Amino acid sequence: MSSMKEQIESLLSEVSALKASTEKEVEEARVKYLGKKGEITKLFEEFRTYPSELKKEFGQRLNSLKKEAMSKIEELRESASALTATQQSKDDVSMPGDPLPLGSRHPVSIARQQIINIFRKFGYDVAEGPEVEDDYHVFEALNFPPNHPARDMQDTFFVSVGHPNPLLLRTHTSSVQVRTMEKMQPPIRVICPGRVFRNEAISARAHCIFHQVEGLYIDENVSFADLKQAILLFAREMFGPDTQIRMRPSYFPFTEPSAEVDVSCNICHGKGCNICKGTGWLEILGCGMVDPNVLEASGIDSKKYSGFAFGMGIERIAMLKWQVNDLRHYFENDVRFLREFGTCVEV
Ligand code: DAH
Repeated sequence: MSSMKEQIESLLSEVSALKASTEKEVEEARVKYLGKKGEITKLFEEFRTYPSELKKEFGQRLNSLKKEAMSKIEELRESASALTATQQSKDDVSMPGDPLPLGSRHPVSIARQQIINIFRKFGYDVAEGPEVEDDYHVFEALNFPPNHPARDMQDTFFVSVGHPNPLLLRTHTSSVQVRTMEKMQPPIRVICPGRVFRNEAISARAHCIFHQVEGLYIDENVSFADLKQAILLFAREMFGPDTQIRMRPSYFPFTEPSAEVDVSCNICHGKGCNICKGTGWLEILGCGMVDPNVLEASGIDSKKYSGFAFGMGIERIAMLKWQVNDLRHYFENDVRFLREFGTCVEV
């Protein structure tokens, strides 16, 4: 058996090299060295049997071994408990924050903003009006006489009935034209983005809520050629520089002459595909020269001024631009659809 001196030395080096990462391991080490049957405790028992001259020689060394072991165990206990605290703590204020996933903009908002930006470059201001409107601003001032069959073009949600000028949810943003002309004298150059409502059964191609952008330009000597040029420039900004347009004669009560505008299909470039149903063309808007009756109804001199107006559906523009094949996607808020329009940025 090795001498007391050797045992003390070897325990000293064992103790100073001790490692423990959990509180359980620290406790095991304490029991091993300082417990009732621990190695250091055993040495003390042996020491007690020594004659006094030997006691003198080993007493100090044994005490410093015990001290060393106690302080080492204490040190290990502290670092192990600090480690468990950080592992358990849910509110360590020094930890970096959790990343917040950001959403993306809705395709209707993106398309609306692109349309606004294009017309802003042409000098148009943005005008807005109420969604709950009266019959006068949605129909009458736009040259829809009472009982005129053109009213059947738009199924209306009425808010109040039996009144000579009932309140209703606007069926188009053309009502904002009227409100703008009531407030301003020419030159007028506005676009009016907004939500509109129609009593339609919901399907892939129709919805009871959608968005439109109305445009209105009134000044002296505004001609149909100006209208055509404005639409062509818009179409090329929106769908690409090679885009062609064609105008087909149409009818709206508030414009004369009226037209519907098609753009060349940006998928097949006019060759014919299933998006343009083989025609090479996609319808994007209605337009025309503002009917003199409409100018006069809102206090604008139709002998001095002329103007053009146009109206387009934002969902439709976005469908054509990004090949969305079902209108219902816009309203269902399925994040898989919405994420197609912007990356989810983590900060
Ligand atoms: N208001 C029409 C609609 O809702 C769209 C429209 C057509 C607006 C021709 C216009 C226009 O300003 O000139 O279908």
